[in-house]
Amino acid sequence: MRERIKVLFLSPEAVPFAKTGGLADVAGSLPQALNRLDLDIRLVLPLYTMVRHSKIKMHLLFNDVKVPLGGTLLSVRVWEAQTPGEVPVYFIEREDMFDRPHLYGTALGDYHDNLERFTVYSHGALRIAEELSFTPDVIHCNDWQSGLVPALLAGPYSTSPFVGKARTIFTIHNLGYQGIFPAEKLYLTGLTRETCFHPEGLEFWGKISLLKAGIVYADSITTVSSTYAKEIQTDNYGMGMEGILHHRRSSLTGILNGADYHVWNPADDSNLAVPYSLKKIAGKRRCKEALIKEMHLDRSLTTQPLLAMISRLDTQKGLDLLIKILDDILSLNAGLVILGTGEASIQEALKTTAINNPGRVALTVGFDEPLAHRIIAGADMLLIPSRYEPCGLTQMYALKYGTIPVVRATGGLDDTITPFNPQTGKGNGFKFTAYTPKALLRTLQKAIELFHTTGAWRKLRTNGMKEDFSWDRSAHSYLELYNTTMGKT
Ligand code: ADP
Ligand code: GLC
Repeated sequence: MRERIKVLFLSPEAVPFAKTGGLADVAGSLPQALNRLDLDIRLVLPLYTMVRHSKIKMHLLFNDVKVPLGGTLLSVRVWEAQTPGEVPVYFIEREDMFDRPHLYGTALGDYHDNLERFTVYSHGALRIAEELSFTPDVIHCNDWQSGLVPALLAGPYSTSPFVGKARTIFTIHNLGYQGIFPAEKLYLTGLTRETCFHPEGLEFWGKISLLKAGIVYADSITTVSSTYAKEIQTDNYGMGMEGILHHRRSSLTGILNGADYHVWNPADDSNLAVPYSLKKIAGKRRCKEALIKEMHLDRSLTTQPLLAMISRLDTQKGLDLLIKILDDILSLNAGLVILGTGEASIQEALKTTAINNPGRVALTVGFDEPLAHRIIAGADMLLIPSRYEPCGLTQMYALKYGTIPVVRATGGLDDTITPFNPQTGKGNGFKFTAYTPKALLRTLQKAIELFHTTGAWRKLRTNGMKEDFSWDRSAHSYLELYNTTMGKT
């Protein structure tokens, strides 16, 4: 009998345990989809406060695992639980590092000891495998928080009888977060200056970059859409990593994320006022009315276009474009609902807009998963005018909920959204290319005009609701990649 492929999957966040963005959605769903393909896949996460306080059933697996940090050995405890799809999850407990209100930092900035925290996480994951005598074929790392792992496997763990032979995959979800730390802290990681602190290693402009460590030392690199895989090899999108990414292009592929329709399905979504589907579409109107009421918006918007944004408030997301054309949008009799949290300056600009336009603009600052579902269901359009977007998940969710995505043609947005053509009846959204307020406004004008053309709008909505971006296809692509990477010598 063929042996099951064994995978250790590292992600600093995963639904339903801890989430700040789309990575959590991916790390929550992809391991389950791979589990369904009969892989022995196991997830490792830090034990954050929010996990500790959740009602998740877990048991103590190890009371005292020694993890190196600099010259010392720290003791961590390890808890085991299962994801809803029965993937084993190991939580690394170290109260002084992970028992905090946020995952990576506060609105004022990153935690000062993130290198220490994610060094302990990275070593901790490898040490757990050793303690369990688990010999992964593949260690799949995600983003800078586990970028150290491929370097550790090329260095101090290369002779480990358990993990030493594992092949590594490093998935880039966002090149904007590079895990940059002062060079003096390198000793904490267990790596030496001689072996890796140089331009062909993890040195990046005189500092350490854990993202670069992942890119340089992993056997295979992936990112979350084909377009982003090409974009990041260019000056415009490479954020200083374009050279090394281009150099490693033969090991770099783009695999589009999926949408988890167990979580995002309007026909079976307990967050909604009324469930609905293509066959029972009247429920969508009821969800819109409920949202208008909940957000204290003008009742007149029931028959006018209601636009929405659900997003981290980050320069990546193109909110600056939106803020510049807000008056023009409102003059088209549209309403706007925004849910987001992030940079203080963006938050302030949006607050002013909301205060100046009561009844037309509703802003909720914070992270609120059930509200995100109600907004996606209740809105007519979802705006995603991103400066760059590795994949983007909300456009896929919006499609399933009959909410029309209006996106900028970049990364995964470009790969998932096709402009609607009223002549042919083909397409699933609206798309613009130039990163300018004018281009966004022009596209929104077109979208709003179509909104008032009932038949065409219905066709567009139907096209979107019929789309299928489920994880199974992407999981097969990862499986193929695991197989090729395991074949690499
Ligand atoms: P990114 O990972 O860059 O933030 P994605 O589109 O891939 O962008 O994923 C964002 C995920 O986070 C989606 O599941 C979206 O619904 C969710 N999200 C973003 N902001 C909020 C918020 N303020 N409240 C609730 N969910 C949010
Ligand atoms: C990142 C990206 C987003 C992507 C998500 C999951 O945070 O910004 O585009 O969908 O990761 O891969």
